[in-house]
Amino acid sequence: MMNALPLLVTVLQLQLLSFLVAAVGYSNGFFYQDNGNGNGKKEIYFNGVRLHVETTEAPVFAVRGSSATLPCHYRYEPELNIPRRTRVKWSWLPADRGHETDVLVALGQRHHSFGDFKGRVRLRRSMPGEVSLVIAKLQLNDTGRYRCKVIDGLEDESVTIDLALRGVVFPYQPSRGRYHLNFGTAQQACEEQDSALATFEQLFSAWEEGLDWCNAGWLADGTVQYPITMPRKACGGADMAPGIRSYGTRHRHTHHYDAFCFSSSLKGHVYFLQQPHGLNFTEAMQICEGDRAKIAKVGQLYAAWRFMGLDRCDAGWLADGSVRYPIAHPRPNCGPPEPGVRSFGFPSHHHRHGVYCYISH
Ligand SMILES: *[C@@H]1O[C@H](CO)[C@@H](O)[C@H](O)[C@H]1NC(C)=O
Ligand SMILES: *[C@@H]1O[C@H](CO)[C@@H](O)[C@H](O)[C@H]1NC(C)=O
Repeated sequence: MMNALPLLVTVLQLQLLSFLVAAVGYSNGFFYQDNGNGNGKKEIYFNGVRLHVETTEAPVFAVRGSSATLPCHYRYEPELNIPRRTRVKWSWLPADRGHETDVLVALGQRHHSFGDFKGRVRLRRSMPGEVSLVIAKLQLNDTGRYRCKVIDGLEDESVTIDLALRGVVFPYQPSRGRYHLNFGTAQQACEEQDSALATFEQLFSAWEEGLDWCNAGWLADGTVQYPITMPRKACGGADMAPGIRSYGTRHRHTHHYDAFCFSSSLKGHVYFLQQPHGLNFTEAMQICEGDRAKIAKVGQLYAAWRFMGLDRCDAGWLADGSVRYPIAHPRPNCGPPEPGVRSFGFPSHHHRHGVYCYISH
């Protein structure tokens, strides 16, 4: 009798599995069933009781530095009068890596959080059955799929929800020129520009918003791709549909491409400084420091352009030695008819331009 129940649950799990596949799993549940005899207390107690775990179907969007709440609720159907001792476990499947890692476990009022999430996560329990996850001080690499699992002694049930950051994707190549980055140096190049390698989802959103770039770049998952909105011969073929062209997964050490970096909103702000005769690169760095600021990084200029509407038709030095300017409202003599950050590449350091500085407050 006592052995029959786990066996039955296993059979039900198999059924559940096919149900989950069909339902894309944003809301699901399972049945505790009796074993057909109905003469043991356990069986009667569980007869027809169903545990539901629910979240919202839409992803949660946030910006870097802010907090995000990932909703999760559970309930029993029919409702139980006797409270049950449940455990809650949140885990995370990073956008760029293949394995789930633990975020937080809770048993009653006791919590434990893990790794990078230590001190940044807590459960929100503002109503019965709520076990939402609050993540503070969001980082660029917190995106991905989170799993809320409720464990009720015998069994567990879970749902997943995606966390995405609002941000901007920009193609990046270093001063040495095109196709000089392997996966590791691409990651590093983005980080040096206050950004992170973009995920496929981030590149896809940028493509939907019109990003067209005919050089292949690394993404966070180790694939190499590029977004094309205006098909042409040199960029995968003139008769191909617009889309993301993919070279698939490339060798992380030996293959070299550009990078697609992702930056989210800024805490501080970016501004332009100039001198009557311009500034060489050394002077540009110094004038920002003299202003208690720092010469801006490429990711900061993109974020300021995208989120604060920075618009300036003056070329300025940036921290990587490139010269660029941000245009939110295209006009004659300020580059192409689309908004964007224009680049003059990497001029010699003694050329004279203005400079973009960044102050974090
Ligand atoms: C995520 O980003 C933070 C801040 O940029 C960094 O300290 C941390 O090591 C990164 N975590 C991973 C797993 O890459
Ligand atoms: C920039 O100009 C200063 C003089 O104001 C000079 O000392 C410095 O070497 C110059 N730097 C470059 C990279 O040309």
